[in-house]
Amino acid sequence: MAVRQIRIIGDEILKKRAREITEIDEKVQQLLDDMLETLHQTPDGVGLAAPQVGVLKRAIVVDLSQEENGVGPYKLINPVITKKKGEQVCREGCLSVPGKLGDVTRPKEVVVEALNENGEKVKIKAKDLLAVVLCHEIDHLDGILFTEKATEFYDAEDEE
Ligand code: NI
Repeated sequence: MAVRQIRIIGDEILKKRAREITEIDEKVQQLLDDMLETLHQTPDGVGLAAPQVGVLKRAIVVDLSQEENGVGPYKLINPVITKKKGEQVCREGCLSVPGKLGDVTRPKEVVVEALNENGEKVKIKAKDLLAVVLCHEIDHLDGILFTEKATEFYDAEDEE
């Protein structure tokens, strides 16, 4: 496994739509492992999308195992939101937008369908923080950063 470099806002790749993964080979599995290792290298990251490490493929990792009632890690390929319910406002940050937080309105609950690293179908019924993180990471696959959706911005340091 290897830690990969995280692309920062301003990098054109973050605005591009990532491509579907048609074959889950060793390269894709390596990518997912590297993404998880890269995520774990950060002080408080809970999710990472492949475009953030410069790869335009539809893959994300999410790990809330350090949170209360934590779940994960998840390695998801071609994730799609198939159901949305309700609304919540969450103060979000992003590893590609250092030092900034913003309030974003997201669904309160989502169902996400994807493939896991073995090519098996998975269906995640998520609510609260997990729903937010999944929506945020799937947005990355469509070239969307939270800064395009946030209504209020804050400096990350003011939060501590
Ligand atoms: Ni992000």
